[in-house]
Amino acid sequence: MPRFEPHPSRRPALVTGASSGIGAATATLLAARGHPVALGARRVERCRELAETLAKDGAEVFAHVLDVADSGSVERFVAASAAALGAPEIVVSGAGDVSAERVHELDSAGFAAQLQVHLVGAHRLVSQVVPGMVRNGRGDVVLVSSDVVRAPRPRMGAYVAAKNGLEGMARTMQMELEGTGVRVSIVRPGPTMTGMGMDWDPQTTGEVLEDWVRWGLARHPYFLKPENVAAVIAAVVETPRGTHLTLVEVQPEARSR
Ligand SMILES: NC(=O)c1ccc[n+]([C@@H]2O[C@H](COP(=O)([O-])OP(=O)(O)OC[C@H]3O[C@@H](n4cnc5c(N)ncnc54)[C@H](OP(=O)(O)O)[C@@H]3O)[C@@H](O)[C@H]2O)c1
Repeated sequence: MPRFEPHPSRRPALVTGASSGIGAATATLLAARGHPVALGARRVERCRELAETLAKDGAEVFAHVLDVADSGSVERFVAASAAALGAPEIVVSGAGDVSAERVHELDSAGFAAQLQVHLVGAHRLVSQVVPGMVRNGRGDVVLVSSDVVRAPRPRMGAYVAAKNGLEGMARTMQMELEGTGVRVSIVRPGPTMTGMGMDWDPQTTGEVLEDWVRWGLARHPYFLKPENVAAVIAAVVETPRGTHLTLVEVQPEARSR
């Protein structure tokens, strides 16, 4: 008799931020690995396009508009996804955005908006999903954090604060959920080539990169691809029961000189 029931063969997954970058790559990989996947983001048409492509390859997928800054929107996304695919067994919280202001130049509404997405948004999601997982005695929650928690970067103060808060929430949940069968995991990517930061003007981007060099935060020029982070997220949620990957930091490998 195994100490833990193995994962069931069918594990519906919710992925937020699935219209771009790490979320889109994660939805794609989980679907390819046979998980039914619900894709959510504000640009729902992009989620629908990706879902159609995945469905052509035989995946069981569902797309629904989602704004993690709006509690009602999160409730509707979770309810519609559960109705379409069944109770979620996997949740990946990947929705997020970052602006490039210095803390003292950022107005407080803008500061709060970033916390709303990265921190309160993740809480909206887990508060909708985790109670059902606890009742089922199993589930995997991946909260996408950032290596800024270990090494803060200038011009990202609200983002750094939000990701620190997110990891604090995750660590608390890990204690609260110990023994329930629900695993909360932090995946902490380093620099990844996605849509994030692509809306900054060239001058801001240049200044941000100069700051990274100045503070020793750009030791080589290689970025992760979103698929690299997705592979780690899939490995975390597919880790056999009995093991809990609580924190995984993912960094781009440098090429030899
Ligand atoms: N790129 C990096 O270097 C890096 C490094 C460490 C951590 N991360 C984290 O990785 C996660 C994914 O970001 P990414 O790099 O893949 O960037 P991305 O390509 O810009 O994707 C971000 C996703 O989040 C969604 N999103 C933003 N605000 C949302 C909201 N209010 N409600 C619902 N969805 C929302 C976006 O969709 P819509 O605009 O359609 O809503 C998009 O699908 C974020 O949590 C980010 O902090 C990224």
